[in-house]
Amino acid sequence: MFRIDRNLTADELDKALRTDVAEGLTARPKQLPPKWFYDERGSGLFEDITRLPEYYPTRAERSILETHADEIAEASGAVALIELGSGAGVKTRLLLDAMRRQGELTRFVPVDVSGEFLAASARPVVDDYPGLDVHAVVGDFEHHLGLLPVSESGRQLLAVLGSTIGNQEPGPRDSFLRDIHDVLHRGDSLLLGADLVKDPARLVAAYDDSQGVTAAFNRNVLSVINQQLGGDFDPTAYEHLAVWNAECEWIEMRLRARSAQHVRVADLDLEVGFAEGEEMRTEISAKFRREGLAAELDAAGFDLTHWWTDAEGDFALTLATVR
Ligand code: SAH
Ligand code: TRP
Repeated sequence: MFRIDRNLTADELDKALRTDVAEGLTARPKQLPPKWFYDERGSGLFEDITRLPEYYPTRAERSILETHADEIAEASGAVALIELGSGAGVKTRLLLDAMRRQGELTRFVPVDVSGEFLAASARPVVDDYPGLDVHAVVGDFEHHLGLLPVSESGRQLLAVLGSTIGNQEPGPRDSFLRDIHDVLHRGDSLLLGADLVKDPARLVAAYDDSQGVTAAFNRNVLSVINQQLGGDFDPTAYEHLAVWNAECEWIEMRLRARSAQHVRVADLDLEVGFAEGEEMRTEISAKFRREGLAAELDAAGFDLTHWWTDAEGDFALTLATVR
C-alpha cells in the first residue's frame, strides 16, 4: 500500500521560500536556510556527496547499521518506522530489513521536503516489502511534525539519520527534539545519527571535496532562487567555503562573492548587492560529543539507552526512549 500526503503544497513551498529568501538576503550578514538546497538537482548532488572519498559520514553510519540494525529493531520493539529527512533512503532499508526479521513491521513513514525525490525513492519500497503500509509525507520537519500519521497502537521508531540534526543551531535543535518527543508516545524510540568532533582537516575536506561536488551543491541554492523566484544570480561568481568554527564546533558552509555583485530577484521585487569578498552563510553542520548529545536528549525528555560508533569512532548512532 502506498500513499503520499502533501503537508506542503507547491504554493506553500513557494511562500516559505519567498519569506526565507527575502529575510535571508536582507539580513546582515546574509544567510539562507539549508532546506532550499534540496530541489531535485540538489537531492541528486547530495547523493553524489555521500559517495565521495572525503565524505565519510554516510559510510560510517551504514557500517554501524550493518552491525547493529537487529539490536535496534529488538530494543525498540517497533512496528512502525518514521524517518525525517529520508532522502534516497538507502540506509533505511537496513533498518526495515531488521524490523521485518523481528517480525512485526507494518508501517513506514518517510518524511522529506523534497517531494519529487521522496516519491521516487519511497514508491519502490512497497514492491520490496510486500504488505508494508508506506505512507510518505512531503513536509517541513521544523513545522509539520504535528501532522504526521502517528500510530496509536504499537511502538514506533523515529529515525533522523545522516547527522541532519547537526544542520540546526542549538536553539532550534532543542525545539526540534522536543517536538519529536511530543509526537511520540512513552516507550517509543528515537534513532539519531550524529557526526562526531574530530581532526578539523578531515572535517573541512568532507565539506570541501577535491571534485567540487559539495561546491556545486552549495551553489545550487542560488540556482533554486533563480528558477523559483526569477533571480539572476551568477552561481559561478561565488566561491564555496567550508570553515571549521572551533568555538561552536560546527562546519560553516558559505558562499563568497568573488567580485562585487548586483542581484535582482524579480518575484520578490528585491535588489541586493554583494561587496567583493562578502560572505553569505548557507549551512552549518554541527559535530557532537557524547556528553553533549546525551544532555540534549535528556533535556528533551529522552533516556539514552545505546551509543554505537563505527570502528574508527568517526560517527555515532544513538538510541533513546521517550521517558
Ligand atoms: N537521511 C539521508 C539524507 C540526509 S540529507 C541520509 O542520511 O543520507 C537531508 C535530507 O533532509 C534531505 O533529503 C532534505 O531534503 C531533507 N530536509 C532538509 N531540511 C528539511 C526540512 N526542514 N524538512 C523536511 N526535510 C528536510
Ligand atoms: N547532514 C549532512 C551533513 O551535515 C548534510 C550535508 C552534507 C551538507 N554535505 C553538505 C549540507 C554540504 C550542506 C553542504 O553532513
